[in-house]
Amino acid sequence: MKEFLFLVLAVTEASSRSRGSWCEPGCDCRGDLKFTICSRALFAQLPTRVPPNTELLDLSDNQISAIPERSFAKTRKLRILLLQNNNISVVEDAAFSHMEFLQKLDLSWNRISALTEGFSAGLAVLKELQLAHNRLTSLDSRSFLHLDALQRLNLTANGIRTIQVRSFSAMSSLRQLHLRDNRLTSLRSGTFSMLRSLEVLNLAGNLIGEMETGVFRPLASVTLLNLAHNRMSTVDFKAFLGIHAYSAHILLEGNPWNCDCDLQRVFRKLRSIQRLFLDDYYNLTCAEPAVLRDYRLTDVDAELCLAETVTVLVITITVVITVLAAMLMGERKRKKEKKRKHWTQQGQLSDESDY
Ligand SMILES: *[C@@H]1O[C@H](CO)[C@@H](O)[C@H](O)[C@H]1NC(C)=O
Ligand SMILES: *[C@@H]1O[C@H](CO)[C@@H](O)[C@H](O)[C@H]1NC(C)=O
Ligand SMILES: *[C@@H]1O[C@H](CO)[C@@H](O)[C@H](O)[C@H]1NC(C)=O
Repeated sequence: MKEFLFLVLAVTEASSRSRGSWCEPGCDCRGDLKFTICSRALFAQLPTRVPPNTELLDLSDNQISAIPERSFAKTRKLRILLLQNNNISVVEDAAFSHMEFLQKLDLSWNRISALTEGFSAGLAVLKELQLAHNRLTSLDSRSFLHLDALQRLNLTANGIRTIQVRSFSAMSSLRQLHLRDNRLTSLRSGTFSMLRSLEVLNLAGNLIGEMETGVFRPLASVTLLNLAHNRMSTVDFKAFLGIHAYSAHILLEGNPWNCDCDLQRVFRKLRSIQRLFLDDYYNLTCAEPAVLRDYRLTDVDAELCLAETVTVLVITITVVITVLAAMLMGERKRKKEKKRKHWTQQGQLSDESDY
């Protein structure tokens, strides 16, 4: 009885996994729902038999290594294409061409190291592109050239070191840009220049130590700017002042702050700007000077800078007094000298008139 039940279950499972000649063995083709689910099917290549009316194709968790040119020419109705967790290193030019309805493409957890201009060709209505956990090291003006409608771009955990100035220039609809856990060391102004609609910019977990003053100026809609866990020891006040969004939350913890009085002054000014919110201000810790390592910035606040102010004041007063004294003494000396010269000069004059 038990074995019979098992057999029945096995048969129904098999028939639901593969229906009709338009369904690749290993896939579950749900014609009624327009879903084709082929995840964990040990595919090393894209399946050839996918129902042409499929709108969601799930190929995640396979071992596919390449996406050839025009791979999806027979399934043009696709809206969602899931390719995460494969072994994709090669995406040929025009691999996704003519996918007029594709809105979401997930290529995360693969081995993609370069994006050519042909990569984005034909993805004119794509809204979401997931590319996290790949091997990209640089982005340039061709990487996303045709992605006019993109709203969310996830580039988390690649090895991106350089972003050329016009890399995101096609994407005026972009709302979220995730660049967390990459290897960026500096931010150049112009990098985000066309991202007027950007709301979330996640740059946490990079190596950012410097930024050009105008870099955030174009981000007129930004609500969250995450710069936590980078290499910043000082704050570029002008760079943040350049954020003209209505209200922007900025995250800064996990940076090696140099808690000198300049930093305190800059933070005081930043916190007084109405449209900026430093949400994790009370979590900021110092890396320098050595005596303040691991102290919270807020805990060292008053005393340090008060002490410094007093020292500066004492030094200033001492210097002023010394200078004044020196001037006074100099003045007296000069007067005396003048008197003496006057007398001797008169003597000389009377000598000369004798000739
Ligand atoms: C993934 O692709 C690489 C070559 O690009 C190959 O050496 C490796 O064996 C592949 N791994 C799997 C699990 O297929
Ligand atoms: C970005 O990708 C990572 C890794 O796949 C994921 O954990 C994260 O939720 C993604 N973020 C967004 C906003 O899509
Ligand atoms: C501050 O740090 C604590 C402990 O690590 C954490 O629970 C909290 O969420 C942090 N606050 C902010 C605003 O990030």
